[in-house]
Amino acid sequence: MIVAIDGPAGAGKSTVARAVALALGFTYLDTGAMYRCVAVARLRDADVDINALEIGLAATVSLNGEDVSEEIRSATVTEMASEVAAEPEVRAAMVLRQQSMLASGDWVVEGRDIGTVIAPHAELKIFLTADADERARRRAMQSGRPLEQVLAEQHRRDRRDGERELSPLVAAEDAVELDTTALSAGEVIGEIVALATERDGGRQ
Ligand code: DC
Repeated sequence: MIVAIDGPAGAGKSTVARAVALALGFTYLDTGAMYRCVAVARLRDADVDINALEIGLAATVSLNGEDVSEEIRSATVTEMASEVAAEPEVRAAMVLRQQSMLASGDWVVEGRDIGTVIAPHAELKIFLTADADERARRRAMQSGRPLEQVLAEQHRRDRRDGERELSPLVAAEDAVELDTTALSAGEVIGEIVALATERDGGRQ
């Protein structure tokens, strides 16, 4: 079974997707981390061959064997990830990798295009949203950076991710939209686990 969780930055995808995977006993896949790894590689070498990159997504995120878990969360990499994610060759390479991973097994996958492009056949599609101010507030709290700055960067990335030609951030027609602005993480997790259990014929 595949549970696809899409939505903009700061809507709570990572926290929620990880916890839902744990509760259901499914494997968690963070596709954003893959774009972030590509960004690290590109920042180090502008001509890097995307197809030759070894990206490891276990307890730590690794690039060609090196632990980049912290580096991928920096502001520079975050900005570059949004840029590389708009490139057709990068998306094509990531789509192939992600689809081959998802070909078997039970997954909770988070990203922007999971329900629309990567796994349109997913049994459950969730589109998580939250007010832009609330999303920025959460990010600023997490990172300790000034709210104004986080809000400005978020606005720029929201526009780029939402307006790009290729796989822009949109909810799949059959996605369940959850506005997390006024909900606790626990409430969102509980709701998704209940929906997944229901869709899966009560195997939990
Ligand atoms: O979810 P995140 O912030 O880690 O994602 C990093 C960047 O990658 C973000 O700008 C959106 C992009 N992305 C994407 O285009 N498609 C995905 N499936 C996942 C992330």
